[in-house]
Amino acid sequence: MDNILSIWQKYKSKEDLISVLQDIQENYGYISMENIEKLSSVSGIKESKIYGVVTFYSQFRTEPVGKYLVSICKGTACHVNGADLIESRLVDVLGVKENEITEDGLFSYENVACLGCCSLSPAIMINEKIFGNVTPESIESILNDYREGKYED
Ligand code: FES
Repeated sequence: MDNILSIWQKYKSKEDLISVLQDIQENYGYISMENIEKLSSVSGIKESKIYGVVTFYSQFRTEPVGKYLVSICKGTACHVNGADLIESRLVDVLGVKENEITEDGLFSYENVACLGCCSLSPAIMINEKIFGNVTPESIESILNDYREGKYED
């Protein structure tokens, strides 16, 4: 895992703040206040400016997520094809609400807008991997595959 100083050194420009923050989120899963403070001290960019950018863009998270972040598409096509049923099955299986992390740290989930693959609706994304035509039954086996390390990177 890159530390904040080495991430900053890849860019070294205030103009690249968004790329720096994307890199931090990729490495840590989210952007903590502690890392905002560290970035401010290595870059000279004011904490308030960094915090403002983090909270302005919805792509940035300020809370931790599970090792596997399940994004449930709630766009129109997925919605009409049963996204709510998938969410409710997932809640039953994982025992968490949106943005909570399972006790083993493996999973959390969030509802998102269209993932851009409507022909596969209902669709979900786990980290970077898309699953299409998901059903309340198949979501359980997909999660089990992750538990068993089938998609380990
Ligand atoms: S609405 Fe779900 S992928 Fe487009």
